[in-house]
Amino acid sequence: MGNQITYNKVIITFIFFISLLVLHTESIRPPFSCDSSNKVTSSFPFCNAALPISQRANDVVSRLTVDEKVLQLVNGAPEIPRLGISAYEWWSEGLHGVSRHGKGTLFNGTIKAATQFPQIILTASTFDEDLWYRIALAIGREARAMYNAGQLKGLTLWAPNINILRDPRWGRGQETAGEDPMMVGKYAVAYVRGIQGDSFEGGKLQDGHLQASACCKHFISQDLDNWNNFSRYTFDAHVLKQDLADSFEPPFKSCVEQGKASSVMCAYNLVNGIPNCANFDLLTTIARGQWGLQGYIVSDCDAVDKIYTAQHYAKEPEDAVAATLKAGMDVNCGSHLKTYTKSALEKKKVQESDIDRALHNLFSMRMRLGLFNGDPSKLEYGDISAAEICSQEHRALALEAARNGIVLLKNSDRFLPLSKMNTKSLAVIGPKANDSEVLLGNYEGYSCKNVTLLQGLQGYVPNTMYHPGCNFINCTSAAINEAVDIAKKADYVVLVMGLDQTIEREQQDRSELGLPGMQEKLITAIAQSASKPVILVLMCGGPVDVSFAKDNQKIGGILWVGYPGEGGAAALTEIIFGEHNPGGKLPVTWYPKEFSKVPMNDMRMRPVASNGYPGRTYRFYNGPKVFEFGYGLSYTNYSYSFASVSQNTLQFKNLKVNKTTENRSALNIAVSDIGPEVCNKATISVKVAVKNQGEMAGKHPVLLFLRHSKAEDEVPRKSLIGFKSVNLKAGENTQTTFDVKPCEHFTRANTDGSLVIDEGKYLLLVGNGEYPVTVVV
Ligand SMILES: *[C@@H]1O[C@H](CO)[C@@H](O)[C@H](O)[C@H]1NC(C)=O
Ligand SMILES: *[C@@H]1O[C@H](CO)[C@@H](O)[C@H](O)[C@H]1NC(C)=O
Ligand SMILES: *[C@@H]1O[C@H](CO)[C@@H](O)[C@H](O)[C@H]1NC(C)=O
Ligand SMILES: *[C@@H]1O[C@H](CO)[C@@H](O)[C@H](O)[C@H]1NC(C)=O
Ligand SMILES: *[C@@H]1O[C@H](CO)[C@@H](O)[C@H](O)[C@H]1NC(C)=O
Ligand SMILES: *[C@@H]1O[C@H](CO)[C@@H](O)[C@H](O)[C@H]1NC(C)=O
Ligand SMILES: *[C@@H]1O[C@H](CO)[C@@H](O)[C@H](O)[C@H]1NC(C)=O
Ligand SMILES: *[C@@H]1O[C@H](CO)[C@@H](O)[C@H](O)[C@H]1NC(C)=O
Repeated sequence: MGNQITYNKVIITFIFFISLLVLHTESIRPPFSCDSSNKVTSSFPFCNAALPISQRANDVVSRLTVDEKVLQLVNGAPEIPRLGISAYEWWSEGLHGVSRHGKGTLFNGTIKAATQFPQIILTASTFDEDLWYRIALAIGREARAMYNAGQLKGLTLWAPNINILRDPRWGRGQETAGEDPMMVGKYAVAYVRGIQGDSFEGGKLQDGHLQASACCKHFISQDLDNWNNFSRYTFDAHVLKQDLADSFEPPFKSCVEQGKASSVMCAYNLVNGIPNCANFDLLTTIARGQWGLQGYIVSDCDAVDKIYTAQHYAKEPEDAVAATLKAGMDVNCGSHLKTYTKSALEKKKVQESDIDRALHNLFSMRMRLGLFNGDPSKLEYGDISAAEICSQEHRALALEAARNGIVLLKNSDRFLPLSKMNTKSLAVIGPKANDSEVLLGNYEGYSCKNVTLLQGLQGYVPNTMYHPGCNFINCTSAAINEAVDIAKKADYVVLVMGLDQTIEREQQDRSELGLPGMQEKLITAIAQSASKPVILVLMCGGPVDVSFAKDNQKIGGILWVGYPGEGGAAALTEIIFGEHNPGGKLPVTWYPKEFSKVPMNDMRMRPVASNGYPGRTYRFYNGPKVFEFGYGLSYTNYSYSFASVSQNTLQFKNLKVNKTTENRSALNIAVSDIGPEVCNKATISVKVAVKNQGEMAGKHPVLLFLRHSKAEDEVPRKSLIGFKSVNLKAGENTQTTFDVKPCEHFTRANTDGSLVIDEGKYLLLVGNGEYPVTVVV
């Protein structure tokens, strides 16, 4: 009897443990479609990985009822148990690390953090495509690892944000790779390839599965969130064809054509009267047709609803369903399509074929992620484990990005770096200097390790005093006397000033370009009373006008740190104490305060002489600047020269094509008339010699620009045509080669949106060096 009881106990305990194990297994592996343990559902053709994806997608769509179809058109797609199809959450974010925003990420399991890289504007300032790629690859792997561990409900990441930073006040400028369309396009390509698991050069993913999916957003011309009475939900951006062609579209074209992004997000706003998500030309003719998008098109969240409720472009809710599905959008972030697609069908505003078209793209996408091939743990990427999240390697990469991104804006008489030995005490002043969350910017996740800038500096100089200086970042009140007191007691003073997400963020653009509240007053007072020049650290995404600090001799050094991510504290400290030589360069023009008089809703890129409109970005803006695009100092000096240029004349004279002057004085020729063959032959190989003249090793981006010798408003004042990073020891020199492609780099758009090359004299520019090239058409 006794034995029997014990035996039963053992059995019960055994069963208990087994069920725990099963439960545990379930909680770490999310349910998946085409599970072979169900013989019926896993034998459907859509589960047959040997068939072409298009055929499998047709099969799955053909099996759905209308009600099932409708529910699949929104970001939270439910499971369809009778077909063995699991639920899917389309909305996950991964702008600069797996993010806690979006609906797909859960940080409440065993994984509580993911590597948080710098906010993009700082990563951009490294001008290092390979670094951008490696970061994205790491984010993609961490996303897969979280998916494998059941803490990510979908592998579709809604990043990168590749709208150009058109206006310095934009609250989301921090999310972008800056203001240059070519550079943002290169960033897009590097990011997409890394996330999706392609190679840096592209092409690895011919037939293989995607590691995760990247999304080119926000298509198009969404670079105003909330300014004056303009909101992204209702803003009708008047965009010239010319500006679309050579400023707004290029990043998206690169993202889709070269990056092979598997998604595009249509933006909230209207462009020239048409809501982006209802624009057939944009979504279907251009993105899918001309650029060959393979993947799905998602609306920004609630953008479909806004077409009806806010824009009143749709008279009835069903009209918004029809307008977006017929334009080529596939999935609605939000619930409008869930609510109104059935009635849109009944009212015959959409046909079932419109829905099927969208669903085909959506199921194809899930299949390309390998999610309809049975147990994902047994497939490609199934072995990426949670150990990769916050790995030493990824955290080192976050530090590398912060180090190489931070920009030295001022360094009077080589004031920096400080000598560690001679720094017995420090005063750190700033409302956010002891905050780790601020370092992440928006679309953040949870850091592997939280270290504040103050803690970083304390690690080097134990005798570090701290005062916030301001009540908040808006600095509506400042404790000037107390801050001055501690500043006076220290060998050196580090002021951490700038902005945070209460000042610039999604749905909040700035109205002013200066430092908020009493920050300027506080900085000036401390600089005045400190015994030695002070160091000003600017933490912000969008640029600020710090002319006062540039001109103040008591401010010895200025460093811009963007929002530097979880490695920010270490990177800043290494730079201040000379363990790292800064090499970052500004990816955006820093405008003076007066720029805030320019209406943010004026989308024109080019200046208009008749009314004093100054134009936008370094390519067109003709007013004074605080700091130039591409500006950034280091602890050494580099010199450049043109070692060789393969040709100094581009001849298009013999082509029998039309040449026009339009309203310019010079002739130009359309790139489409030149044709790809001649275009490719015209490539100029430019070799630049670079020498590190100083005493410290450094990594350094070499920026090659092009300038038309004849300044006219239609033509960019100069354009970035290439960038390459070089690593040079003190005194070392090297050569770096740029392939300059005239049909890409010498072009601008005509008023009709066609890309043309102007005849005339041009200059290649690197540093102070110039090299003339003549174009004959
Ligand atoms: C995590 O949060 C999700 C969504 O709120 C919930 O369904 C899940 O049970 C939570 N997991 C744990 C381990 O708490
Ligand atoms: C902007 O909105 C404010 C407050 O709602 C209103 O007083 C003002 O007239 C509006 N300005 C314009 C130009 O519409
Ligand atoms: C800085 O923040 C940390 C973590 O919140 C806290 O422990 C520490 O006391 C703070 N330091 C100062 C000087 O306020
Ligand atoms: C870092 O800080 C965040 C926000 O304050 C917090 O939620 C998180 O738990 C912290 N992470 C670590 C590893 O301490
Ligand atoms: C300043 O910032 C604090 C904290 O974010 C906020 O509560 C306050 O309303 C702000 N003041 C002004 C005038 O914006
Ligand atoms: C770099 O060169 C400039 C001008 O020649 C000089 O003023 C500056 O001190 C040099 N800086 C370094 C770090 O060598
Ligand atoms: C050149 O322009 C003329 C007149 O507009 C037009 O008829 C002709 O087709 C054009 N030729 C080419 C090669 O585009
Ligand atoms: C240039 O020509 C186009 C039409 O061909 C016209 O719309 C535009 O206003 C002209 N621009 C200038 C600066 O004259």
